Amino acid sequence: MGLLEARNVTKIYQTESAPVAALQNVSLQADAGSFVALVGRSGCGKSTLLNLCGAMDFPTSGEVAIDGQVTSQLSDAALTRLRREKIGFVFQSFQLLHTLSAVENVELPLLLARRGHARQAALERLRWVEMKEFAYRLPHQLSGGEQQRVAIARALALNPRLMLADEPTGNLDTATGEVVLNLLRRMARELGVALVMATHSRESTAAADYVINLRDGRIEHEPALQSR
Ligand SMILES: Nc1ncnc2c1ncn2[C@@H]1O[C@H](COP(=O)(O)OP(=O)(O)O)[C@@H](O)[C@H]1O
Ligand SMILES: [Mg+2]
Repeated sequence: MGLLEARNVTKIYQTESAPVAALQNVSLQADAGSFVALVGRSGCGKSTLLNLCGAMDFPTSGEVAIDGQVTSQLSDAALTRLRREKIGFVFQSFQLLHTLSAVENVELPLLLARRGHARQAALERLRWVEMKEFAYRLPHQLSGGEQQRVAIARALALNPRLMLADEPTGNLDTATGEVVLNLLRRMARELGVALVMATHSRESTAAADYVINLRDGRIEHEPALQSR
């Protein structure tokens, strides 16, 4: 069984005008240590799927299970615990708190979870993303790629088993994006984290173990490769 399983997930948003079918009958699995890339154009449903996988929202039909727990069956308290203890999030816009230094950003989830030795653990995470020498800089004193590495260290603070990254290289140039992609790949391999990354750029999927193509809310299966 995968650490993350989405089974026949459909998501329909009710809006003032017509209902929007953002996902239709989508299934995916992510195991510990594997890197799954979700690729497709803007509006195809990538963020919707990541939100469902992160227990931030729930499917209209079908189900999402994280470490065997079906998200739509959990209490609010259990959901809070699941999100905090098992899932890390990385965003296109980094979302660091701009008045806190790099190390304070990474330390925050540890303090909120009342973990001991928070500063030491935060510095250790920064060392892992090769940002320890920038620990006391504010986000605006860092480049985009450096900010994203700090954001990854923050997402790793509580040792999540699942990492969800929504267009993590979307605000970075190609070379810096490569560095971040390699870091995410190393994270999956070395730390055994299951990684699901959404991207609209096919080039960004090169480091992934599995690529899922989404088109208009459905999984698009590539035609089978012809044998030579
Ligand atoms: N909260 C919402 N309410 C209504 N429609 C939404 C909402 N969020 C996303 N959508 C619609 O669902 C579709 C998929 O959006 P999204 O998951 O954000 O795609 P992507 O991340 O691939 O760009 C789009 O048509 C979008 O307009
Ligand atoms: Mg999106």
